[in-house]
Amino acid sequence: MTTVESATASASGAAATDRFQADKSPFAAVKDVPKDRVDTLAHEVLSAVHATIRKHQVTYDEYNALKAWLIQVGADGEWPLFLDVFVEHAVEEVATAHRKGNKGTIEGPYYVPGAPERGAEGSTLEREESGTPLVWEGVIRSTDGTPLAGGKVDVWQDDNAGFYSQFSEGQPEWNLRGVFTVGDDGKFRIHTIKPQPYQIPHDGATGALIEAAGWHAWRPAHIHVKVSAPGHELLTAQLYFPGDDHNNDDIAQAVKPELMLDPQEQPDGSILVQYDVTLDPTS
Ligand code: DHB
Ligand code: FE
Repeated sequence: MTTVESATASASGAAATDRFQADKSPFAAVKDVPKDRVDTLAHEVLSAVHATIRKHQVTYDEYNALKAWLIQVGADGEWPLFLDVFVEHAVEEVATAHRKGNKGTIEGPYYVPGAPERGAEGSTLEREESGTPLVWEGVIRSTDGTPLAGGKVDVWQDDNAGFYSQFSEGQPEWNLRGVFTVGDDGKFRIHTIKPQPYQIPHDGATGALIEAAGWHAWRPAHIHVKVSAPGHELLTAQLYFPGDDHNNDDIAQAVKPELMLDPQEQPDGSILVQYDVTLDPTS
């Protein structure tokens, strides 16, 4: 595993690349895809590139700059970051269109499996955290309304400075991550802090594109979650906060109205959010 020396794009990018290569088996999962599907997809993507070149009269200088940039994205270990920000949202939309339960959204590059078990109620904090204390309570149900005993809520988020543990230095390994397992009533209660709006790492190749195109690197504040239960489809989602400057121009295009929380400020200044999750049975 790459040691993360600082929260730079190259450090978090390399860590995200290592993480992806360690935990997924992407080639095995598609080994039986028919040739005609590969042919169709590869052909249409390349044709779209050719059409763009013709339409905009792309020059050799621009073509060579593209080559150099593509090489740099790989050298910086930024393919997981780049793809999850600019492409994953469309894949997620297609994959979950059939669902009747909760809407989901992109996973992004910073999920790490194996976070500590924290019961049906517990805290994700592994150190004193600055930031606004937040409690998220909810129930995991099936689409028929039955609470799903044994369901799990696996959460991850950034700290008050906008960094994810294991992808930046200085945080305990599992800080602001945890797995909550519900009993017969389906209820969970998660003690954490309000996440912060987050700029995707922008000092590497992805940042060079963002800068050259005059875009910004911001994602609105969000809590990531994977919710699972026996006999049900895994839900991957993010929950958002009303009023965030970047809810309407998220660089990752991952915000959906169904994922907006209704935070209730408590007399002690902390925030309570109530958000239930409905999972689709596997058919
Ligand atoms: C990226 C980071 C995130 O925290 C996220 O939720 C989605 C994408 C990224 O850097 O690619
Ligand atoms: Fe995120």
